[in-house]
Amino acid sequence: MSSGAGVKLRIDGIAKRYGPVVALEPLSLEVRSGELLTILGPSGSGKTTLLQVICGLVEPDAGRLFIDGHDRTVMPVHQREIGLVFQNYALFPHLTVAENVGFPLKMRGRPAGEIRDRVATALTMVQLGHLGGRFPRELSGGQQQRVALARCFVYQPAIILMDEPLGALDRQLREHMQIEIKRLHRETGATIIYVTHDQEEALALSDRICLMNHARIEQVGTPQEIYEHPRTAFTAGFIGTSTLLRGQVEGDALATPHGRFALPPGSTATGAAALVIRPEHLRLGPGPNAIRGVVAETVYAGAETRLLFDLADGTGAALRLPTGTTPPEIGTEVEAHWTTETAVLVPL
Ligand SMILES: Nc1ncnc2c1ncn2[C@@H]1O[C@H](COP(=O)(O)OP(=O)(O)O)[C@@H](O)[C@H]1O
Ligand SMILES: [Mg+2]
Repeated sequence: MSSGAGVKLRIDGIAKRYGPVVALEPLSLEVRSGELLTILGPSGSGKTTLLQVICGLVEPDAGRLFIDGHDRTVMPVHQREIGLVFQNYALFPHLTVAENVGFPLKMRGRPAGEIRDRVATALTMVQLGHLGGRFPRELSGGQQQRVALARCFVYQPAIILMDEPLGALDRQLREHMQIEIKRLHRETGATIIYVTHDQEEALALSDRICLMNHARIEQVGTPQEIYEHPRTAFTAGFIGTSTLLRGQVEGDALATPHGRFALPPGSTATGAAALVIRPEHLRLGPGPNAIRGVVAETVYAGAETRLLFDLADGTGAALRLPTGTTPPEIGTEVEAHWTTETAVLVPL
């Protein structure tokens, strides 16, 4: 099998079990040089196991792992030049911030002058240049996580792995740190594999998303590809909100309890399938493809108002009201329509 130019990491049929538990079905994935790829998925889907296999903490039962085209399946952790950032910052409490950041360079026997310069650069990069003399306990959670980031970026590892690094931070700080990580990524050109269970975080950060479910890769693609062209009902449900109309493909239509609807161009599913309609493509009012329901909730979210309504069989539907629209009252009946091309058909 050939590895294209610009591939940093290639995972080829990697599998892992823990006794009866399948943590990873045989899976394959390529990570390009300089890309920020997120591994997204619900808890227990195998994200951490995959990361541990990549960094060498866990030996796979099968498959091969290549870094820069070289087989690294059995190489020890410390020889892989892989940087790690976890949710718990794992800073050394008895070392200052600057000593923590300089630690990987000291381990590699770099001269003191070089360590000083590179630590200063790394601390400036995470906007902590003035706090080098402090101890970790004298920093906030967000600052400690920035020290952990600086300590990882300082020695320019070939690949940086992050496992839910912002999971312990509050929302505002998390969003701020997401922007920091994007900037660090852009400025350093590092290849980053970032694990999260938060779909918004994955959409915000990623060049590409690898979505996992039950120890398998569900779909890999850019945030836009995954959002606009989900290939499975799981993907459509996990990323963003959508209305899922289930039915049977009959000729060029999907027969559902809510009516027969034309299949979007390019649909390939047969048998049991569902139409996925994103809230921004569903409009109030009648049309050739329309569904009726009863308003269950309206959610004001500043830039938009979301209208949630229930179809006769209990299927939940969601649409976005244009700004300035007065939402219909809860309990009233509404009709909403979409144009055929904006829906996506997924197999069930
Ligand atoms: N060391 C272990 N021993 C036994 N089971 C494990 C171990 N690590 C992970 N698992 C199991 O493997 C599956 C995948 O876990 P994990 O990779 O941690 O998922 P995630 O990071 O997506 O939450 C889970 O069912 C988990 O319970
Ligand atoms: Mg995990």
